[in-house]
Amino acid sequence: MSIYVNEELKEFHLQTKNSSYIVKILKNGEVGQLYYGKKIKHKQDFSNLLKIVPTPASVCEFEEDPIFSLENIKQDYPSYGKGDFRQPAYHIEQENGSRITEFSFHSFKIYSGKPKLLGLPATYVENEDEAKTLEIKLFDKLLNAELILYYSTFYDYDTITRSVKIINKGIENLYLDRFMSFSIDMFDSDYEMVQLSGTWARERHMYRTSFRPGIQSIESTRGASSHHQNPFLAICRKNTDEFNGEVYGFSLVYSGSFLAQIEVDHYKTSRIMMGINPFDFKWKLEKNKEFQSPEAVLVYSDSGFNKMSQIYHKFYRERLARGKYRDKIRPILINNWEATYFNFTEEKILDMAKEAKKLGIELFVLDDGWFGKRDNDRSSLGDWFEYEKKLPNGIKGLSEKIVELGLQFGLWFEPEMISRDSELFRKHPDWAIQVENRKLATGRNQFVLDMSRKEVRDYLYETISEILKNSKISYVKWDMNRNISNIGSYKLDKDRQQELLHRYILGVYELYDRLTTEFPDILFESCAGGGGRFDPGMLYYAPQGWISDDTDAIERLKIQYGTSIVYPLSSMGSHVSAVPNHQVRRVTSIETRTNVALFGTFGYELDITKMNEQEKDIIKKDIEFFKNYRELIFKGDFYRLLSPFESNETSWMVVSNDKKEAILGYYQVLFEPNPGFKKIRFCGLDENLEYEIYIRKNQELEKIGEYNGDELINFGLILEQDYIRVFLEEITENGDYNSKLFILKAK
Ligand code: DGJ
Repeated sequence: MSIYVNEELKEFHLQTKNSSYIVKILKNGEVGQLYYGKKIKHKQDFSNLLKIVPTPASVCEFEEDPIFSLENIKQDYPSYGKGDFRQPAYHIEQENGSRITEFSFHSFKIYSGKPKLLGLPATYVENEDEAKTLEIKLFDKLLNAELILYYSTFYDYDTITRSVKIINKGIENLYLDRFMSFSIDMFDSDYEMVQLSGTWARERHMYRTSFRPGIQSIESTRGASSHHQNPFLAICRKNTDEFNGEVYGFSLVYSGSFLAQIEVDHYKTSRIMMGINPFDFKWKLEKNKEFQSPEAVLVYSDSGFNKMSQIYHKFYRERLARGKYRDKIRPILINNWEATYFNFTEEKILDMAKEAKKLGIELFVLDDGWFGKRDNDRSSLGDWFEYEKKLPNGIKGLSEKIVELGLQFGLWFEPEMISRDSELFRKHPDWAIQVENRKLATGRNQFVLDMSRKEVRDYLYETISEILKNSKISYVKWDMNRNISNIGSYKLDKDRQQELLHRYILGVYELYDRLTTEFPDILFESCAGGGGRFDPGMLYYAPQGWISDDTDAIERLKIQYGTSIVYPLSSMGSHVSAVPNHQVRRVTSIETRTNVALFGTFGYELDITKMNEQEKDIIKKDIEFFKNYRELIFKGDFYRLLSPFESNETSWMVVSNDKKEAILGYYQVLFEPNPGFKKIRFCGLDENLEYEIYIRKNQELEKIGEYNGDELINFGLILEQDYIRVFLEEITENGDYNSKLFILKAK
């Protein structure tokens, strides 16, 4: 049983494997929040968990009841204007200027399965038994509108999803200017907040701060979830670490401008909410129309961040990502971007592809610069036809030659953009997002197409699908290299202009849906100038994404570590690139670059025709090695062991589901002379099994010894001088940026 109901008291107890979530209909018909946390036994009456602080000065809804004040009650989807002075979850303007609503309990429904969200990405069930859904319907008589709160519990996946829908059944328009996906009031504020923040080439670094009175928030106003803030927030107790303590994860399945907010009130309770960013958002809801919020995925762990991440990894890999590639090992790719940038010919690409094939690479990806007259980033976006100067045989001819070599072929697009210097812009200047008579700002010398317009989406669908149909294409990289400014649409009425950013992302989702449905055999990889839109929304359409334009192995330690807080390795694009690295000029060994990149969807992004035989031999062996372990890396359980945000060392490992095999990566950023004792404690192994441990040295596995699972977990493995760099004499090159891989096999 995963949802209990007490009809008389109108209490609902949602359970997952390890968590409980309890709500109750309050005296005024709104929803009260009783509990969210570690699973507790069900009982008939949980009203003792409802906190009402009696304060005489508060605004009360009922004249005869001076205690019932919304300000002092924990709520689950709080309204505006009736005495709760914290921020509401929704705010609806009416034709008469009022913003006061009175949605109160109407009915509820519980059923197996989970409904789809119209036009929005969301988690799903494969069979109805996997989830149970509770719908609580609230009704406002005056507005004649319904507000439906959706709670789905995936018992075994240990997750709860939330979403809200409003249906206008009245005769007047409603204007939603705040419509969050969920809101929850926690009893206290003795928490810390963890966010994944950064910027271009430095995405998803971890930040942890204490709650304080007032509002703390993260948001994007960029029309994309952004490099700067990921639509994710965790709250944890002060003592929580990777393996101990309570943590709650809140992740929004949305790729547009969002807000995630924590409000600590005067009684030190905390209100957490997430949803479409209300800033510059207003949605006109006409009669008989409905509006649905994006979905939020809630996870509770009583054993630290690692467990929370593992829950998200499995759930997102299996019940958010979709399609043929969801469960399929992804091809090892080579991408020509950092090898050639815009400067390539068909001959050059074929030379690279031939070498790639010899080394065991499986997919060749042709990046930016193959279309229109694109020799640099100043032209041609929108002109999705081949640049004959570079590709005399077109994409069709090139793709056929690459497939003949025994490789798959993939192609880059940036569908949502338009260059001033393009045939498309000359023909349809109004297709760019802009405000009439105002200057149009460029970003990377390009403008953003108005994806809210059907004719724009149809044009993109037709031109892109034409190429996909006529050539031998197995993979598409869908890039998006600037954020949206000068927000205005030629097509939308003036009272709908503030709908544009949400309509934009719905348009992107629609185009993704059409293309992925029409081409189910193509693997899509999302990208946005690296990880500028790496979020759960994208994962629904593209099971993998390019997580950052920074390919430096050392920078990647933080980026991959931070990304792994929510996202599975199967979703993380990670490539070995050339040295000196193009973003930071750092020189790291091929060993370290490989040891970092293979914890993800592995690939290369360098000019292999320029490598010497010795380097190529290394790559060949690395690829063979990866092929032996990629199933494990793709589907195993990921553990973070040492954090790059806390020390000079990073370590992580992946353990197979049956615990019989594991791979561990250990990285030392700076050389540390004479460091004393070092050991590493393993996680996720079977205490009762005996393991052989191998270290990978010079592309070969060398056996270190045999150890019991319990000693590896409780004591660990001493890192001998042989394994890491401790003495200067051993070192012939730069002593920094060292790394090692360990393989464990149960006997
Ligand atoms: C940004 C991407 O992140 C890069 O990998 C590359 O595709 C460039 N765009 C091409 O313009």
